[in-house]
Parts: sequence; C-alpha cells; structure tokens
Amino acid sequence: MLLNYDDYGPGPVVVLLHGFPLSRKMWSEQESSLGSMYRMIVPDLRGHGKSAAPDGVYPIEAMADDVVELLDALQIKEPVVLGGLSMGGYVALALMARHPERFRALMLIDTRASADTPEAAQGRETLAKAVEEAGNAGPAVESMLPKFFSVVTRQRHPDRVAAIRKIMEKTTVRTIAGSLRGMAARPDRTAELPQIKVPTLVLVGADDIVTPPSVARAMADAIPGAKYVEIPDAGHLAPLENPEATDAAILKFLDSLP
Ligand code: MLT
Repeated sequence: MLLNYDDYGPGPVVVLLHGFPLSRKMWSEQESSLGSMYRMIVPDLRGHGKSAAPDGVYPIEAMADDVVELLDALQIKEPVVLGGLSMGGYVALALMARHPERFRALMLIDTRASADTPEAAQGRETLAKAVEEAGNAGPAVESMLPKFFSVVTRQRHPDRVAAIRKIMEKTTVRTIAGSLRGMAARPDRTAELPQIKVPTLVLVGADDIVTPPSVARAMADAIPGAKYVEIPDAGHLAPLENPEATDAAILKFLDSLP
C-alpha cells in the first residue's frame, strides 16, 4: 500500500521509520539538522499518521514491503541509508533480510532483533483487546507513555512528552491492535545480524527501559563492524529527547559512509 510520507532536503537519501504507535512526526527534531544535508524520506508506516489503516494484523514484513513500494513510487533505485526506531527498527531488519540490495547503511535506534517472549506476546494481545474494548487508544497510551521518556525529558521537555501523547491518542484502534498482533508474530532476527554487510550504527538512549543499552550493545556486537552509541539524558525516544547528541552521532556516521 502507498504510504503517506515527507520528502525534503538535498543530497543522498536517508529513510527514517518511526516507532509504535507514533508517526513520522516523531522525527520533527531531525528536520532542520539532517534535512539540511540529506534527502529525508520519512513515511508514516501503515495505519499510522496519515497512512491508510487496513483491517486485520499488520505483519512487520508487510510494513517493510510498503517501504520498498514507496521507494519504487519515488523512483529511488540506488541503495539508500535506512534508519528505524523501535518498531521501525523491526521493519528495518525485515527490510535488510528481504531487500538487502536496496540499502547501503543501517541505523538501528532504540530497538532489538529478538522476537517477543511468549509473555510479551500475550501482553500485546491483552493490550490489543483492551484498546478494542475501550474503542480508543487510551489503554495503549497509559501503559506505554510512562516507559518512553527519561526523567530528564519529563522535567525539561514536558512539551515533547505532550506532543507524543497527542500522536498516540490519535492512532486508531485498528492500527494499534493490528500492529500489536503483527509485532507479537515477528520472527527472531538475532541469527541474521552477522550477515548484515552494510555499515551499521546502533544507537540507544542511556535510560531506555523498553530496549535497554544492554540489548543494543549485544546487537551491535553481533553485527560486523557496527558502531555503538549511547545517548545521555534520553530514554526510548532518543532522537526526540536529545536531538543534539543523536543528530551529532547520526551525522558523524553518515559522514563516514563511502
Ligand atoms: C515502539 O516504540 O515502537 C514500541 O515500543 C515497540 C514495541 O512495542 O515493541
């Protein structure tokens, strides 16, 4: 399905994939920095933001194929840089497995390669049902928002927390349930990490409790030559919580690419 997207900036293409249940707006802090040097393609994944929300389960592989469809529609044939945060990282890893020839570098941000444990998958089903029963995003917002941010972000940037709450609240029941069920069914990609052949940056908020630094470091250790960066004063949404440090790390990485 054709996704809604932002397309701005000059230079080599960088694709950024957002987390759940968010939208392309979570990358707004990157617009002036990265967007002054790179062509940024920033889609709303299926159901999120302004992209259409089909019925049923949203498999991560389908979300990945949507991104390739978008690149094709934009006639971008040359390999591009791919970045994904959390669920966007799951999609990025699926893209690397399914369409490796389309990407020349990878950025895995506040994410993991492993599948859900049976308990985590069960928790997602419980949450999907709660959202369906409530008829709105409320249960997802209340269970997820408190885990997203560092203490520093809560204290210094309540406006950013409020903006993310607003995006979450606007996400439809169909999208939340479909994505939760899709994420619960995603495969374990840990064994694929040593096969990643492109330069890779693994970046994580030092205070991320959803996909913690220990998980990110192990992922970086498994990818040949991967760079690992921890962002201070940031939780699960490092690019929004500490854009200065995140952008500096990303720009250094992009600058180092052949
Ligand atoms: C996200 O930020 O995309 C979610 O925390 C991912 C997840 O629930 O596994």
